[in-house]
Amino acid sequence: MLIRRSIQTLPLLALAPLLGACALDGPQSIFNPVGPIAQEQLDLLIWTYYLSWLVIVLVAGAMIYAMVRYRRRRGSDEIPTQTHGNTTLEIVWTIIPALIIVAVTVPAVRSVFRTETIVKPTEEDLVIDVIGYQWWWAFEYPELGIVTANEIHIPEDRRVILNMTSADVLHAFWVPKIAGKRDLIPNQNNQLWFIAEEPGLYKGQCAELCLGAHAYMRFRVVVDTEEDFATWVAKFQAVQGPEAEFEAVQAGPEIERGKQLFGQKCAACHTVAGFAEGTTIGEPIFPNLTNFGLRTSVAAGVLDNSAENLTRWLRDPQEVKPGNLMPTLWEADNPDRDEEIAAVTAYLLSLGSDDTAMAQASAR
Ligand code: CUA
Repeated sequence: MLIRRSIQTLPLLALAPLLGACALDGPQSIFNPVGPIAQEQLDLLIWTYYLSWLVIVLVAGAMIYAMVRYRRRRGSDEIPTQTHGNTTLEIVWTIIPALIIVAVTVPAVRSVFRTETIVKPTEEDLVIDVIGYQWWWAFEYPELGIVTANEIHIPEDRRVILNMTSADVLHAFWVPKIAGKRDLIPNQNNQLWFIAEEPGLYKGQCAELCLGAHAYMRFRVVVDTEEDFATWVAKFQAVQGPEAEFEAVQAGPEIERGKQLFGQKCAACHTVAGFAEGTTIGEPIFPNLTNFGLRTSVAAGVLDNSAENLTRWLRDPQEVKPGNLMPTLWEADNPDRDEEIAAVTAYLLSLGSDDTAMAQASAR
């Protein structure tokens, strides 16, 4: 009997490999927070976790004790003492759960008030406007005149205030190591603020099912030192915003060719600030590709930004991210496909990059 039961539970072992998905130090693990908001959320989780263990130990312990101590003995037909309607017991097991609920609720509500407070930006704060699209992120730094997509740079130890809304359906902004989650809702402004205390690259993810490529709606947060952040901002302000000046790119023939092809194939949707003097290209409802060469990812965080991955994306965007709005711009039977994609790749990687020769070489 016991053996048969054991065999029946064996299929459960097939689920064991799922434990391989558990990691305390993964790129999106909440267990090593780098800022006070994520820390507060983790503390809350850990507190509730230990409290649950206390409940499990007490309940399971009492149950096991009762099962062993009061089990029916062989040959005994004696009915045990009946405790139904025992007032003392009833009061005790009403009060204990109430206390547990208080122990969870008080810190939870306190955290909600501390982290959800709508804050007024001060001089030192960095404000970023976020718009969620299916399935990518538009980021705008109103005070700095910067518009970008899918990747933000922020300085360490400075409060960042995000004003968030959505252009279509519900999305949610979540960078597990820094803060989260907050919904992006059409026709509504939600705010999220956080501080990141350690420079590095942090991966984020849309955390609200938004159909199609929801799982591929990722983004990255690069936490810089103040100095690196200033460099990044200057790179954008050189081409974007009111102070920007048009500067013809001093580049080789391949990048020039790539730029020309970009103008024909991509510029109907995508903006690159400083593309041509006095000309505006692209539409704000598609990812802004200004300084694309500075980005670490392609296709909203799905692939690392490299010539190889960018080529893969341009050849067949639907293969990388099914359902996205980017059409296949080069048909498979187009004899110029490889050469043209290499040129556009070189051009895109050269944007914002100090080393255009390297972008050109790596695209080959
Ligand atoms: Cu956007 Cu899920």
